[in-house]
Amino acid sequence: PSHARLVIAVDGPAAAGKGTLAKLLAARLGLPHLDTGLLYRATAARLIDAGWPEDAAQAASRAAELAASLGTADLARTDLRTPPVDRGASAVAAMPAVRAALLDLQRSFAAHHGAVLDGRDIGTVIFPHAPVKLFVTASPAARARRRWAQLNPGADPTTDAARTAIAATEAALVARDAADAGRADAPLARAMDAVELDSSTLDIEAVLERALAIVAERAGAP
Ligand code: DC
Repeated sequence: PSHARLVIAVDGPAAAGKGTLAKLLAARLGLPHLDTGLLYRATAARLIDAGWPEDAAQAASRAAELAASLGTADLARTDLRTPPVDRGASAVAAMPAVRAALLDLQRSFAAHHGAVLDGRDIGTVIFPHAPVKLFVTASPAARARRRWAQLNPGADPTTDAARTAIAATEAALVARDAADAGRADAPLARAMDAVELDSSTLDIEAVLERALAIVAERAGAP
């Protein structure tokens, strides 16, 4: 097939819809999909379980060891989307030794069949020569509403309690973006040749259609 070994980088801030887009895009194009955030989340969860060392250098070397030995079961844990793991993932993601330990795994994932990878630095660091790079954004308010709805399926977002929770979610997202964009090593950033897709006012179908059009333009029609 013409998409053999095609690499598609999907980056953007927390809860912008990268994961959903990457998954649908992979299914439509017959490519494997890797949610690279899970690698940082699983590393953080293991470090929390092991007892997060107070000393920063010790925490970084322990985290790098855990990152280097991640297995399928670690990535399949059902507790990787809790607030402590959100914060822990952002913290281990700022450790250069952890990022180095996860580099080969991400590159070799795409080696045989190509892949769609979503994260923060796929188009800038992991696959700087990817032919297709998407940068998915949305306003903090839109991202907070979506994240809250995901965690509270079917709940009414207009109650006072919901509004308070959504505001707290927005504050946490904004804090995590600031940390991810402000770190020295592989910060969250749009690659110069990435196409930005703002999902604030588009539903997922519309975002997917635009993404498929960009793939066709940059990589040839499937
Ligand atoms: O996409 P996510 O929210 O699951 O990512 C969790 C954390 O991992 C996020 O705070 C930033 C970090 N991350 C990263 O630094 N680089 C990636 N390629 C993916 C995630």
